Amino acid sequence: MTPRVVVLGSLNRDHVVQVPRLPAPGYTVIGGGLLTFAGGKGANQAVAAARLGAQVAMVGRTGDDDAGWAITAALAAEGVDVSGVSRDPATPTGAALIMIERGGQNLIAVAPGANATVGETEVVDALERLRPDDILVLQLEIPVRAVESAVQQAASLGARVMLNAAPAAPIGPATLRSLDVLVVNEGEAQALAGIPPREAASALARRGPAAVVVTLGKHGAVLSQGQSSLHVPPRAVHAVDATAAGDAFVGGLAAALVEGVGRREAVWYANTAGAAAATVVGAQSSLPTREDLRRLFGPHTDIASPNEPPEGLQPL
Ligand code: RIB
Repeated sequence: MTPRVVVLGSLNRDHVVQVPRLPAPGYTVIGGGLLTFAGGKGANQAVAAARLGAQVAMVGRTGDDDAGWAITAALAAEGVDVSGVSRDPATPTGAALIMIERGGQNLIAVAPGANATVGETEVVDALERLRPDDILVLQLEIPVRAVESAVQQAASLGARVMLNAAPAAPIGPATLRSLDVLVVNEGEAQALAGIPPREAASALARRGPAAVVVTLGKHGAVLSQGQSSLHVPPRAVHAVDATAAGDAFVGGLAAALVEGVGRREAVWYANTAGAAAATVVGAQSSLPTREDLRRLFGPHTDIASPNEPPEGLQPL
């Protein structure tokens, strides 16, 4: 049976406005028209992995409202198994308010809505879906208690677990020790480790995850496993919106790992997917397919045959 990616995480509707520059605290800026997209880190990562060819199941909660039904339908249209997405009759669907400035930087505030009601019921649902060799993927837009419970139980069942610790929140030592892969951006790495991002990767790896990946935006990524750390070079693109670039990275990494690709090659492929997502506005609207990656980066770009040798990755 083909291994799958099981995502336990958030689903949001994103409300986006493009602005000439992000406002400083206390200021107002006039932007363009209001855009809405399907989003949420969990749903984005599910779609990212599915577009790159993985079989994906999503577990999470929305409100019983138009937004919830629409974003669930969008997921199903991508081939994601949404039988684990339930409705909360008393709480609205999660929403994200996003400002994007020229050059792609953004500011995001999330109203979690039904994502905040994810608990042990969804944890059990996600665990029951896991088969040998599947990967469980989580983020921190659902309650940390549910995430920690799922991570530790999944690891004790022998499953591979990937945590994207975004947005940053304190993670207990038993959870860190249960992880196959921890993925964080620079800010999250610094928040978790308390030291600069490039050194944070190896410091976090010493706390127990089999591998730690720190994404560095236009500077690529660092992969730390055991005693070794590698710099994974960036993909040069014209970035217009960084929203969901990290989700494309995590989805790409999960898709490559379930296909049996080694971690170094998988991180290189994830970097490729993340860079591609930054070239398009929106969250799920920006997530690339395999064909998109070939068009952007050359005909040999694929999970199983990255078009640049991983030997090109530099030890730190
Ligand atoms: O990572 C991007 C996502 O963060 C957006 O889609 C938004 O919903 C927030 O959750």
